Amino acid sequence: MRSSIKIKLLLFVLSCSSLFSDSVKKQTYIQTLEAKNSISYEKIINTRAAYITPMCYTKTSDKEEAKVFNPCYSCHTKGKIPNYYNDSHLQEVYNFPKQAMKNPFTNLFKDKRKEVGVMSDSYILDYVRRSNYFTDEGDILLSQELPDTWKGYRPDCYFNFDDEGFDQNKNGAYTGWRAFRYFPFLGTFWPTNGSTDDVLIRLDTLFTQDENNTFDKEVYKLNLAIVEALVKQKEITFDFPVDERTYGVDINANGIADTSNIISPKVRSYVGLAKWYLKAEKIHLAPGLFPENTEFLHSVRYLDWDEKKDLIKLSARMKELRYAKKTTWKTYGEIQRAAQSEFWEAQALESLEARIALFRGNYEEGLRNEIGWKYQGFIEDKAGGLRPQTHEETISCMGCHSHLGATTDSTFAFARKFEGVHKDQNDHGWNHWSQKGLKGMNEPKVEYKKYGKQYEYSFYLHNNHSGNEFRNNDEVKEIFFDSNGSINESMIDALHDDISLLLFPSQRRALKLNKAYKVIVEEQSFMYGRESNVKVMENVYKEIKEGLKTDIENMIVRP
Ligand code: HEC
Ligand code: HEC
Repeated sequence: MRSSIKIKLLLFVLSCSSLFSDSVKKQTYIQTLEAKNSISYEKIINTRAAYITPMCYTKTSDKEEAKVFNPCYSCHTKGKIPNYYNDSHLQEVYNFPKQAMKNPFTNLFKDKRKEVGVMSDSYILDYVRRSNYFTDEGDILLSQELPDTWKGYRPDCYFNFDDEGFDQNKNGAYTGWRAFRYFPFLGTFWPTNGSTDDVLIRLDTLFTQDENNTFDKEVYKLNLAIVEALVKQKEITFDFPVDERTYGVDINANGIADTSNIISPKVRSYVGLAKWYLKAEKIHLAPGLFPENTEFLHSVRYLDWDEKKDLIKLSARMKELRYAKKTTWKTYGEIQRAAQSEFWEAQALESLEARIALFRGNYEEGLRNEIGWKYQGFIEDKAGGLRPQTHEETISCMGCHSHLGATTDSTFAFARKFEGVHKDQNDHGWNHWSQKGLKGMNEPKVEYKKYGKQYEYSFYLHNNHSGNEFRNNDEVKEIFFDSNGSINESMIDALHDDISLLLFPSQRRALKLNKAYKVIVEEQSFMYGRESNVKVMENVYKEIKEGLKTDIENMIVRP
């Protein structure tokens, strides 16, 4: 008896000490990164308002050209229910919280011509072509380096896709990640402004299994298509006809058990194991929302050059790996209250005074928004390896992914996913960019209240007179506008047939942008802005004067 107590005690002490040594390992890992990169993981050094974006400080008028520009509408707009945010008023006034009146993103005003000038083309190409994600053996570096007790996301995607976009690990097993192609969001996210990127989705494992708990790719594909119909709130065509009796789900919501390749947004159940979990109310289903435990991965990369195709491509090196997970289900009511509480808080202060937003969580587990998602990312350290982003760097994720009318359940890309049904179609959605690019994609159309149906990117050029928010993209300006600033209509016609004409930079520009970003990596100055500008940005305010208006009241854009 006694000895067993002794043994238990010994085991307890041992496990404590191993816990202790684990936590020391984690501390050492973080402290080493802090020392090597002169950063702080917990302290806020530059600004708590890091969730406000550099684009918000853009000047919307140009006295010399006597013109107004509206780059604001892409983000600040009226949400589609269940997105209850309507921040279209932010197209009109620079109504920032007091602490953010001074533009904290000083990298926008940095002249990097000297540093960029001394970097050779071959140096930067070699740099972006070396992977910082994989070891030479094809293992994932970060997943080896992160301490065993790391509570956040441990990268587990192999970027090794079958012909339907499903990722497979080194042994050929499916990781659950599935890549998809989408229309890149307006402005900054076009490769011509500095980065290539990709987006992948993964549903909870139970969505990949049939009713007997066995992995079934068809079940997973069907569940992903059901989620697509729900989230987009529109009919989705599946790649082959489904016999509804096999799954016991009325996929086309027509009230009869038949065979159909149409998935209705009115579908009321997932298929396979998920159907039973839904019945037991362990998971949920609602139009406009992803089910719990949905994950997204977003790798942001440099611009590599594909010599054969004479086009840009994704670089092997990652600038960032970004991650999101829906950890909690929120009902429409809860989401509406989250959006309104912000509004009422402002009302209570009478003047619609903006206040600093705070986000719960930490750099290890990610920061949380009010509607059930957490966000976290990895970014290059000084030497180019990927490291977790600091608390302050992570705050920068939270504005775009929580308070905007432009998002769909906090996300951007999935609602913009291509919908081509067959694999050989140019607009087939379920592939990675490395399998099928953007070249030759037709321009998407959107509908706005005052302006009717419009080509989305052309409309942006008409409103913003430039290829990005900051109006510092000289190449787009040269190609799409003539010397007196009028839009080149024949280029607009060509754009309708091939969006890469606008979205892709030339090789010269691509290399320059890579170099400019590399300067920020060497400085580890991400908290001051991650834009790839070479020169000082002229069209951006360094400080906002109280009450400043945008003067774009005549060109407000609403859905
Ligand atoms: C890429 C998306 C994006 C663009 C483009 C953009 N903003 Fe923002 N803006 C944000 C985000 C994210 C926030 C922080 C979350 C929030 O408060 O909505 C924000 C916040 C603001 C705020 C502070 C609001 C508050 O309550 O704290 C103002 C004012 C603002 N933006 C004005 C503008 C103006 C004016 C433009 C155009 C010149 C613009 N923004 C363009 C994303 C954008
Ligand atoms: C300026 C606004 C903005 C900021 C800041 C931002 N994102 Fe995003 N994020 C986007 C857009 C837009 C997309 C879609 C990509 C595209 O269209 O090319 C996206 C895509 C994603 C996705 C894929 C799912 C989705 O929403 O489409 C994840 C995951 C993600 N971001 C995480 C992060 C993390 C983590 C951070 C912070 C390190 C971050 N984001 C910062 C705008 C932003």
